Amino acid sequence: MKIMQINKGFPYDLLLEADPSLDHIERYLKVGSCYIAVEEQEVMGVYVLVEKEEEIMEIMNIAVREDRRGKGIGKKLIHDAIQRSEALGATKIEIGTGNSSLDQLALYQKCHFRIIDIIEGFFDSYPETIIENGIPCRDMIRLSYSKI
Ligand SMILES: CC(C)(COP(=O)(O)OP(=O)(O)OC[C@H]1O[C@@H](n2cnc3c(N)ncnc32)[C@H](O)[C@@H]1OP(=O)(O)O)[C@@H](O)C(=O)NCCC(=O)NCCS
Repeated sequence: MKIMQINKGFPYDLLLEADPSLDHIERYLKVGSCYIAVEEQEVMGVYVLVEKEEEIMEIMNIAVREDRRGKGIGKKLIHDAIQRSEALGATKIEIGTGNSSLDQLALYQKCHFRIIDIIEGFFDSYPETIIENGIPCRDMIRLSYSKI
Protein backbone atom coordinates (compact mmCIF):
# COMPACT_ATOMS: atom_id res chain seq x y z
CA MET A 1 0.00 0.00 0.00
CA LYS A 2 1.30 3.43 -0.97
CA ILE A 3 0.34 6.70 0.67
CA MET A 4 0.57 9.69 -1.65
CA GLN A 5 -0.48 13.31 -1.85
CA ILE A 6 -3.12 14.33 -4.39
CA ASN A 7 -4.17 17.78 -5.57
CA LYS A 8 -7.32 16.86 -7.49
CA GLY A 9 -9.79 13.97 -7.78
CA PHE A 10 -10.43 13.99 -4.03
CA PRO A 11 -12.36 10.90 -2.75
CA TYR A 12 -15.43 12.78 -1.51
CA ASP A 13 -17.35 9.57 -0.77
CA LEU A 14 -14.72 8.69 1.85
CA LEU A 15 -14.20 12.25 3.11
CA LEU A 16 -17.95 12.53 3.74
CA GLU A 17 -17.87 9.39 5.88
CA ALA A 18 -15.64 11.20 8.36
CA ASP A 19 -17.33 14.59 8.07
CA PRO A 20 -20.89 15.01 6.81
CA SER A 21 -20.35 18.71 6.09
CA LEU A 22 -19.33 19.21 2.47
CA ASP A 23 -18.83 22.91 3.24
CA HIS A 24 -16.24 22.10 5.90
CA ILE A 25 -14.51 19.57 3.63
CA GLU A 26 -14.24 22.06 0.76
CA ARG A 27 -12.86 24.69 3.14
CA TYR A 28 -10.06 22.56 4.55
CA LEU A 29 -9.19 20.95 1.23
CA LYS A 30 -8.44 24.46 -0.05
CA VAL A 31 -5.88 25.16 2.67
CA GLY A 32 -4.66 21.65 3.46
CA SER A 33 -2.93 18.67 1.90
CA CYS A 34 -4.84 15.51 0.99
CA TYR A 35 -3.18 12.09 1.12
CA ILE A 36 -4.61 8.80 -0.10
CA ALA A 37 -3.68 5.18 0.60
CA VAL A 38 -3.67 3.25 -2.66
CA GLU A 39 -3.50 -0.47 -3.25
CA GLU A 40 -3.86 -2.05 -6.69
CA GLN A 41 -4.89 1.36 -8.04
CA GLU A 42 -7.82 1.57 -5.63
CA VAL A 43 -8.20 4.20 -2.90
CA MET A 44 -8.30 2.46 0.50
CA GLY A 45 -8.21 5.52 2.72
CA VAL A 46 -7.70 9.24 2.94
CA TYR A 47 -6.61 11.94 5.34
CA VAL A 48 -6.32 15.71 5.18
CA LEU A 49 -3.59 17.63 6.98
CA VAL A 50 -3.82 21.37 7.68
CA GLU A 51 -1.33 23.75 9.27
CA LYS A 52 -3.37 25.19 12.13
CA GLU A 53 -0.67 27.44 13.55
CA GLU A 54 3.08 27.57 13.35
CA GLU A 55 4.39 24.13 14.39
CA ILE A 56 0.84 22.80 14.89
CA MET A 57 -0.74 20.52 12.30
CA GLU A 58 -4.28 19.15 12.41
CA ILE A 59 -5.65 15.97 10.87
CA MET A 60 -8.95 17.40 9.65
CA ASN A 61 -10.36 14.23 8.12
CA ILE A 62 -9.44 10.55 8.11
CA ALA A 63 -11.40 7.68 6.60
CA VAL A 64 -10.84 4.12 5.46
CA ARG A 65 -12.99 2.28 2.94
CA GLU A 66 -15.69 0.45 4.87
CA ASP A 67 -14.76 -3.04 3.64
CA ARG A 68 -11.10 -2.48 4.62
CA ARG A 69 -11.57 -1.18 8.16
CA GLY A 70 -10.09 -2.94 11.18
CA LYS A 71 -7.00 -4.06 9.26
CA GLY A 72 -4.57 -1.40 10.42
CA ILE A 73 -4.98 1.08 7.54
CA GLY A 74 -6.29 3.84 9.84
CA LYS A 75 -3.25 3.45 12.10
CA LYS A 76 -0.91 3.56 9.08
CA LEU A 77 -2.57 6.78 7.90
CA ILE A 78 -2.19 8.38 11.34
CA HIS A 79 1.47 7.36 11.57
CA ASP A 80 2.02 8.75 8.07
CA ALA A 81 0.38 12.04 9.12
CA ILE A 82 2.61 12.19 12.21
CA GLN A 83 5.77 11.58 10.15
CA ARG A 84 4.86 14.14 7.51
CA SER A 85 3.90 16.73 10.14
CA GLU A 86 7.17 16.23 12.01
CA ALA A 87 9.11 16.48 8.74
CA LEU A 88 7.40 19.84 8.25
CA GLY A 89 8.58 20.95 11.68
CA ALA A 90 5.42 20.39 13.68
CA THR A 91 5.81 19.85 17.40
CA LYS A 92 2.12 19.17 17.94
CA ILE A 93 -0.50 17.31 15.89
CA GLU A 94 -4.16 17.69 16.72
CA ILE A 95 -7.33 15.84 15.81
CA GLY A 96 -10.96 16.32 16.77
CA THR A 97 -13.73 13.77 17.01
CA GLY A 98 -17.26 13.47 18.31
CA ASN A 99 -18.13 12.53 21.88
CA SER A 100 -20.01 9.53 20.42
CA SER A 101 -17.11 8.29 18.24
CA LEU A 102 -15.94 5.67 20.72
CA ASP A 103 -13.93 3.55 18.26
CA GLN A 104 -12.16 6.62 16.89
CA LEU A 105 -11.35 7.81 20.43
CA ALA A 106 -9.83 4.37 21.08
CA LEU A 107 -7.81 4.45 17.88
CA TYR A 108 -6.39 7.94 18.46
CA GLN A 109 -5.40 7.17 22.04
CA LYS A 110 -3.73 3.94 20.85
CA CYS A 111 -1.77 6.18 18.49
CA HIS A 112 -0.59 8.25 21.50
CA PHE A 113 -2.99 11.17 21.15
CA ARG A 114 -4.24 12.58 24.47
CA ILE A 115 -7.44 14.48 25.20
CA ILE A 116 -6.70 18.18 25.60
CA ASP A 117 -10.05 19.92 25.27
CA ILE A 118 -13.78 19.64 24.61
CA ILE A 119 -15.70 22.04 22.39
CA GLU A 120 -19.19 21.86 23.82
CA GLY A 121 -22.04 21.89 21.28
CA PHE A 122 -19.71 21.90 18.25
CA PHE A 123 -21.97 19.49 16.33
CA ASP A 124 -25.26 21.12 17.39
CA SER A 125 -25.16 23.34 14.30
CA TYR A 126 -25.03 20.36 11.94
CA PRO A 127 -28.32 20.05 10.00
CA GLU A 128 -28.90 16.44 11.08
CA THR A 129 -28.22 14.98 14.51
CA ILE A 130 -25.48 12.36 14.29
CA ILE A 131 -26.09 9.28 16.47
CA GLU A 132 -23.30 6.78 17.02
CA ASN A 133 -23.27 3.89 19.47
CA GLY A 134 -26.72 5.13 20.52
CA ILE A 135 -25.19 8.43 21.68
CA PRO A 136 -26.05 11.84 20.15
CA CYS A 137 -22.92 13.48 18.83
CA ARG A 138 -22.85 17.03 20.24
CA ASP A 139 -19.40 17.88 21.54
CA MET A 140 -16.02 17.76 19.87
CA ILE A 141 -13.27 16.01 21.80
CA ARG A 142 -9.90 17.54 20.94
CA LEU A 143 -6.81 15.34 21.10
CA SER A 144 -3.16 16.11 20.62
CA TYR A 145 -0.06 14.10 19.80
CA SER A 146 3.07 15.65 21.06
CA LYS A 147 6.54 14.24 20.79
CA ILE A 148 7.67 16.41 23.71
C1 LIG B 1 -11.79 5.64 12.05
C2 LIG B 1 -11.22 4.82 10.91
C3 LIG B 1 -10.45 5.74 9.98
C4 LIG B 1 -10.26 3.76 11.49
O1 LIG B 1 -9.64 3.06 10.42
P1 LIG B 1 -9.31 1.49 10.53
O2 LIG B 1 -8.49 1.11 9.37
O3 LIG B 1 -10.56 0.72 10.76
O4 LIG B 1 -8.44 1.48 11.87
P2 LIG B 1 -7.31 0.44 12.27
O5 LIG B 1 -7.71 -0.92 11.83
O6 LIG B 1 -5.98 0.93 11.81
O7 LIG B 1 -7.20 0.61 13.85
C5 LIG B 1 -8.23 0.43 14.68
C6 LIG B 1 -7.58 0.38 16.07
O8 LIG B 1 -8.52 0.92 16.96
C7 LIG B 1 -8.87 -0.07 17.88
N1 LIG B 1 -10.26 0.08 18.26
C8 LIG B 1 -11.31 0.35 17.44
N2 LIG B 1 -12.41 0.39 18.20
C9 LIG B 1 -12.04 0.14 19.47
C10 LIG B 1 -12.74 0.07 20.71
N3 LIG B 1 -14.05 0.29 20.77
N4 LIG B 1 -12.04 -0.20 21.83
C11 LIG B 1 -10.70 -0.41 21.78
N5 LIG B 1 -9.99 -0.35 20.64
C12 LIG B 1 -10.66 -0.08 19.51
C13 LIG B 1 -8.60 -1.38 17.20
O9 LIG B 1 -8.45 -2.43 18.11
C14 LIG B 1 -7.30 -1.04 16.48
O10 LIG B 1 -6.20 -1.02 17.37
P3 LIG B 1 -5.19 -2.29 17.50
O11 LIG B 1 -4.54 -2.41 16.14
O12 LIG B 1 -4.24 -1.86 18.57
O13 LIG B 1 -6.02 -3.45 17.85
C15 LIG B 1 -12.34 4.05 10.15
O14 LIG B 1 -13.09 3.30 11.04
C16 LIG B 1 -13.27 4.96 9.37
O15 LIG B 1 -13.02 5.29 8.22
N6 LIG B 1 -14.42 5.36 9.97
C17 LIG B 1 -15.40 6.22 9.30
C18 LIG B 1 -14.89 7.62 9.16
C19 LIG B 1 -14.56 8.24 10.50
O16 LIG B 1 -15.30 8.09 11.46
N7 LIG B 1 -13.45 9.00 10.55
C20 LIG B 1 -13.00 9.68 11.74
C21 LIG B 1 -13.78 10.90 11.99
S1 LIG B 1 -13.27 11.66 13.52
